[in-house]
This record gives sequence, structure tokens and C-alpha cells, in this order.
Amino acid sequence: MRLRIALASDHAGFYLKEEIKKLLEEEGLSYHDFGTYSPEAVDYPDQARAVAEAVARGEFDRGILCCGTGIGVAMAANKVPGIRAALCHDTYSARTSREHNDANVLALGGRVVGPALAREIVSVWLKTQFSGGRHARRIAKIAEIERQYSSRLDGEEVFCGCSPGGGLPQEVREGDLAAQVAYVARELLKVAGLKPGDILVAGCSTSEIAGQRIGTASSLEIGEQVLQGLLEATREYQVYLAVQCCEHLNRALVVEAQAAEIYGLEQVTVVPALKAGGALATAAYRALHRPVVVSSIKAHAGIDIGDTLIGMHLKPVAVPVRLEVKTIGCAHLTLARTRPALIGGERAVYR
Ligand code: RB5
Repeated sequence: MRLRIALASDHAGFYLKEEIKKLLEEEGLSYHDFGTYSPEAVDYPDQARAVAEAVARGEFDRGILCCGTGIGVAMAANKVPGIRAALCHDTYSARTSREHNDANVLALGGRVVGPALAREIVSVWLKTQFSGGRHARRIAKIAEIERQYSSRLDGEEVFCGCSPGGGLPQEVREGDLAAQVAYVARELLKVAGLKPGDILVAGCSTSEIAGQRIGTASSLEIGEQVLQGLLEATREYQVYLAVQCCEHLNRALVVEAQAAEIYGLEQVTVVPALKAGGALATAAYRALHRPVVVSSIKAHAGIDIGDTLIGMHLKPVAVPVRLEVKTIGCAHLTLARTRPALIGGERAVYR
């Protein structure tokens, strides 16, 4: 994928920014220069803010900021929700800031590093990918801090929905993601009154669980944990699990072949992958006994982790189920049960 880079500096980082522009041009990378455009004194928070906001809005993949020390621009950029700005003056930190911290902004000090070292730092930083896995969980915790503090009003702390483990019993909150998902799924199956052989449909954005935008940071490790939790609960209740693939596969679903046969579901030919299907569907395809992919389903209840939209696979009439638990990781949680339609008007008898 071609990276879109946003670049800015104050006066003290101006010459370093110009050097970095040369490097980006040599490497054939596209960038937008948010200023400043001369060595005349300006206030670094203005340039840092412009780049950080553009990256946070998704208009650019990465940002590079320079000031005298790199400190001021890093501090300012890190105030913008969604920004993880890393001040790096060596290549080890630059690489690790990507692998471990998924830094989306690099800060450099024009009065600290020379142009040759800065070029190496930038090259390494741009080439290195986020490792995901356990690091995704830690990034999710950073995002949780951000969301909680963003919702303080007039000094009074108002926790938003994504307070870590909010609504879960203590022992479950202290457990892993699989235990948390299993708890929520069991509660849903209980409230929804599912019987053996019924279907639970699940949609999940592992990116949202990790505090990232849906589709931007899929994690197979998180997908496997979510699946483990769902399988624990559905096996206990002897309910079929249908895992929704992402929009790129038209929200097709991974199910056991047995469920497809019993319900007469229409099969489609595709094998879910991380970027076309999603992490949970990929994990499900690997873990089910005889997985098949079907185009649609009429499930008896649904669990949606990260607003993936599962409504199209629920039987009418779908009814929301509201638990104390509102989030899994940083992802918003929506639960639904279904009931038969009440038909017949005034004369009808329902019991
Ligand atoms: C400007 O003199 C300097 O304070 C600024 O470039 C930066 O180093 C701030 O952190």
C-alpha cells in the first residue's frame, strides 16, 4: 500500500523538514507539507495540530513533525485523540515505535539530530509494520485512557462506554478477552432463551476492540480469543454459531456444514482471510469442524462487537438486549434476540 504522509515543522525544524521532503521524493513517496514554509518563528502546536488532525481524520496514513527538539510537536500531537506520536532520535526507537506502539506520527528535533541520521530514522520508521498481537491489547489500553479522559465534563468524571471491563463481574473482568466474550454470550443466550439447534450470529471488528477504526488493524490473535469465547458459550447451549464475514465478502457467514444442511442455507465459494472476511471469520474457518460459507442466515440472536451490522442476518422481529456490559475492549457491544411477529390485530390472542 502506498503511504500518504503529512509533514510539518516549526521554524526550528524547518530545515530538517526540507531534508525529509527530499528523502520522500527520492523514495517516490507522496506527502503534503502543512508548513511552516520559512525559518521565520511560528508556534509549533499549530503545525503539530494540523498534521495530527489530518492523520486522525484518516486523510493521511502517517505524520512526520519536526521542531527544535521534537518534544513540543510530540506533546501537541499526542493531545489529538487517535494519535500516537513517538519522539525518536535513533533507529531502534523508530522501529520499535512502529512494531510495538503502532506510532502514527514521528517527531524529530532539528536541533538534536543531523540530516543523515534523521533520514535513516525516517526510512526505518516508514518501512516498519505494526506487529499486532499482544501489542494490540496494549494499544487498546492507551485508547481506553484517551476515551475516558476525553469524556470528563466540568471536572466531573463521566466514563464513556468503553471503561475497561465495565459491567463485568470482577473475576471475568480480570480474565482474558475469551472469558469476557464467553460471559456476554452466555448472558445473551440465557436472556434470548435460545434452544439447542438455534443459531447465534456474531459480527466482530478486532480493530475496534484494539481501539482502532474498523478494518484498519485486524488482529488474528484477538479474533481467535473472541471465537474461543463464542464457542465456549454456544457449545454449552448447543447452539450453532454463525460468524459474519466483513462487508468485502457481502457479510457472508462461516457456519458448520451441519447447520447449513439442516437450515438449507445457500453456500458460496470463498475462504475468509484477514483482509477479506476479517479476523473472526478467518479464525472460525480454521477452527470449526466442517466449515462452510453461506450467503445469508436467519439467526435467533446476535452479538455485534464493534458495530459491524449484523441486523440483516437476524430473524424478524429483532429486539435489543441490554446488559450492563457495553463494550468488549474498546469496541461497542450490541446484542439482540428475536421473537415471532405478533399478528392478527385486536382479535388475536397471543397466549
Ligand atoms: C522553538 O524555539 C523550540 O522551543 C521548539 O522548536 C521546540 O523545540 C519545542 O519543543
